[in-house]
Amino acid sequence: MTAIPAGPTIMAPPVAVWETTSAEATRAIGQLLGEACAGGETIALIGPLGAGKTCLVRGLAAGLGAPAEAVTSPTFVLIHEYAGRVPLYHVDLYRLDARDAVNGLGLEEYVDSAGVTVIEWADRAPAVLPGDHLRVAIEHLGGDRRRVTLHPQGARPAALAAQVAARHPGTGGA
Ligand SMILES: Nc1ncnc2c1ncn2[C@@H]1O[C@H](COP(=O)(O)OP(=O)(O)O)[C@@H](O)[C@H]1O
Ligand SMILES: [Mg+2]
Repeated sequence: MTAIPAGPTIMAPPVAVWETTSAEATRAIGQLLGEACAGGETIALIGPLGAGKTCLVRGLAAGLGAPAEAVTSPTFVLIHEYAGRVPLYHVDLYRLDARDAVNGLGLEEYVDSAGVTVIEWADRAPAVLPGDHLRVAIEHLGGDRRRVTLHPQGARPAALAAQVAARHPGTGGA
């Protein structure tokens, strides 16, 4: 008999999966996501360096009516704020030197605000994520190919993800 280990988290199934072959295509997914956001959303971006997380945030900014070309990876500051239809808070935890350091950032304030908070390397601070959030995973498939998967956690993120998926049918998922 095989024991099935109980995991600490039950992941929602993905609602949409795309394979993109250019930065523009990944950015377009971000833009649809931005257009679908009403404010108050938290988006957790997961994926290795060079996956296209910042690229997706540029699209998100465009979809929120914020200056997309201004979006860069925060280097010394961990949070950038852009003015759009609703504020966009762009957090990048790549340079977080210690996991404890996240406690001093006041991220909860952004997450609880009426803006859209997008967090690169969100897996480095899982405790900061609210129960409802949209997890976006970007995987490298070699060359310019990437797999972008939406994993909504909670009812509102599920509705958001479904809206994006309806406008841009993915290549898999439920
Ligand atoms: N399909 C793709 N999607 C996103 N970026 C891509 C893709 N193909 C190539 N790229 C390139 O990969 C890099 C992604 O960089 P960036 O968005 O800064 O990654 P991250 O923020 O995940 O470290 C960019 O140079 C971009 O042009
Ligand atoms: Mg980045």
